[in-house]
Amino acid sequence: MTAASQARDLFTELTGSGPVGTWSAPGRVNLIGEHTDYNDGFVLPFAIQQRTCVALGERADGHIRVTSTVEGETVEVDLTGLDLLFPKNRGAVPEWSTYPLGVAWALLRATGVDAASVRGVDLAIASDVPIGAGLSSSAAIEGAVAAALNDTWRLGLDRVALAQVGRTAENDAVGAPTGIMDQMASMLGRADAAIFLDCRSLEADVVDLGFTDAGLEIVVIDTGVKHSHATGGYGERREACERGAAAMGVPALRDLSVDDLARAAELMDEVTFRRVRHIVTENQRVLDTVRALREQGPSAIGELLLASHASMRDDFEISVAELDTAVDAAMAAGAVGARMTGGGFGGAAIALVAHDSVATVTDAATAAFAASGFAAPTIFSVRPSAGAARDV
Ligand code: GLA
Repeated sequence: MTAASQARDLFTELTGSGPVGTWSAPGRVNLIGEHTDYNDGFVLPFAIQQRTCVALGERADGHIRVTSTVEGETVEVDLTGLDLLFPKNRGAVPEWSTYPLGVAWALLRATGVDAASVRGVDLAIASDVPIGAGLSSSAAIEGAVAAALNDTWRLGLDRVALAQVGRTAENDAVGAPTGIMDQMASMLGRADAAIFLDCRSLEADVVDLGFTDAGLEIVVIDTGVKHSHATGGYGERREACERGAAAMGVPALRDLSVDDLARAAELMDEVTFRRVRHIVTENQRVLDTVRALREQGPSAIGELLLASHASMRDDFEISVAELDTAVDAAMAAGAVGARMTGGGFGGAAIALVAHDSVATVTDAATAAFAASGFAAPTIFSVRPSAGAARDV
């Protein structure tokens, strides 16, 4: 069953009647440009075919009720009470519900619309984006809910503004200090293309991937190692980047180039320097990848993907043994390139693979995980797909 029909069925179970509409938004894979977004830098993600779907109906009162196929608990609050929940009292509602409720809160805040003036809503949510796999299941739920409420409440926000609303929900309601890449990818995705995003200006260019013509596809190797960006390593990396920028006297690491690294090495401790080096070289790799895609096509980006992985493993230190094993196994089995994708500390790796090598790469990764005593990975191909939309 598709996520859309699951969401509709769940809605009917909840309310006894059908929804007025369904909206959906995709997860994403980041081709290259990791942890550069909150450094005002460059990223190159694409939306994938797995989507989160929201079925919505209006209520007679001013409440918002959310339910989902993923989590058992239905949550209902008064829209005028959202200001009391976020950001300080997020613990008063179940964690999963901070995503949809946080989006409602952030939308009203961004538009200045009084919560008492909008109609209450019921939302039923279903998803086929794997959770905790580094494929932005959170941006998918934020995007689908933001699109649904923006239309229903006639708020008139454009896609970039809706991505910003999603990020506010993630940062202030959920409490994860992430950048804006995932929400922008989920909002702006296009079939067969990636989104080249300048995270300072939020200018976005569509870059054709040309996978079909080149006979290539992206294989996701989900390690099954769960991560959360609301705790631990992600925030620490972010702080190290801020320290590095302050030491160099620039607003963000985006303002440094590879030529500044020699000076950086003298001005900061060794660990901070390596964090900075990852960001500075990764920004350059995004620019190089965009150029290679435009001038030579996707067969030319393998080295850049590998260099990105090495930088995350050695300098930024966000990889784990399972991700390194996935990358090494895919390369040994003939992939064009491979790297971990997303925030790190678990989640998935991607490999760029010729169609006729997909089975070999899949078998090799599975065998390598077994040989290392890791739980079997989940392996599937993803298609660059369209962004958030109203479905019916
Ligand atoms: C997570 C965050 C993004 C980005 C990536 C790392 O997916 O949500 O904002 O920082 O990690 O590139």
